[in-house]
Amino acid sequence: MAELEGKSALVTGAGVGIGRAIALTMADQGARVVVADLNEETAQETATLIREAGGDAHTFVADVSDEQRVSAMVEFTVKTFGSLDVACNSAAVSRGSGPIHTFDKAVFDQTLDLCLTNTFLCMKYEIEAMLEQTSGGSIVNISSNASLRGQPYNTAYAAAKSGVNLLTKSAAAEYGHKGIRINAVSPGVIRTPGVEKYFAEQPKIAEGLKQSAVMRRLGEPSEIAEAVCFFASDRASFITGQLLSVDGGGAIK
Ligand SMILES: NC(=O)c1ccc[n+]([C@@H]2O[C@H](COP(=O)([O-])OP(=O)(O)OC[C@H]3O[C@@H](n4cnc5c(N)ncnc54)[C@H](O)[C@@H]3O)[C@@H](O)[C@H]2O)c1
Repeated sequence: MAELEGKSALVTGAGVGIGRAIALTMADQGARVVVADLNEETAQETATLIREAGGDAHTFVADVSDEQRVSAMVEFTVKTFGSLDVACNSAAVSRGSGPIHTFDKAVFDQTLDLCLTNTFLCMKYEIEAMLEQTSGGSIVNISSNASLRGQPYNTAYAAAKSGVNLLTKSAAAEYGHKGIRINAVSPGVIRTPGVEKYFAEQPKIAEGLKQSAVMRRLGEPSEIAEAVCFFASDRASFITGQLLSVDGGGAIK
């Protein structure tokens, strides 16, 4: 299926995990993709995988919590492809967990920077670019099921991701009349390098997380990518401001 044929796309955090799967699936569906990540080596690997499969990919190395790099990343995409039709903001990293009364403010601030403010910065420049074109565009943010209810000891990340949800809805309401659709996908527990590392560090918590989906398995990055590509495509042409949990039923328990 070539649902994204002719579209130009930007995916952040596309070096590994969910971001990589999104970049690969978008390319498979016909999009030309800028693979953006902090890590040049893994970004190159993703781009190589896309090219080997016959797609068109370029890399851009950026820390998306750095406003100047975000601005340059969007400018690079528009210069390379002539437009920015689709953007997926997947890059995020959580810093620390623990009870609030002992939680370090600097770590809380870092988590907001790396999970929420980065998404705001990406949206700011992506929307600016999309406003320049008559065709509008589609933005998909990656949230988390951690944003949906109280998450003991994971407050900073949960608060940041719930901020992503409201950022998505507020921006959707601001720019719908300009033809820019903005939605979010909320993954459950997905088998990625980030999660594998967390499981290795926290084996007791891992057991519970592995059982958190009613489908009793972890999700695969490609299952998140399918939902992102649906929102990005014209098949979702009348859908904006929505948050879709892709979680094997984790959020209904
Ligand atoms: N894996 C899960 O179970 C899960 C669950 C819920 C939500 N999520 C969300 O999905 C997204 C991807 O998660 P993942 O598990 O694939 O992560 P991961 O840690 O496996 O990979 C994250 C990628 O993003 C890049 N990155 C991180 N911060 C960056 C920054 N500031 N600038 C540029 N690149 C940056 C990293 O280099 C890496 O390539 C994140 O937003 C995460 O919060 C993941």
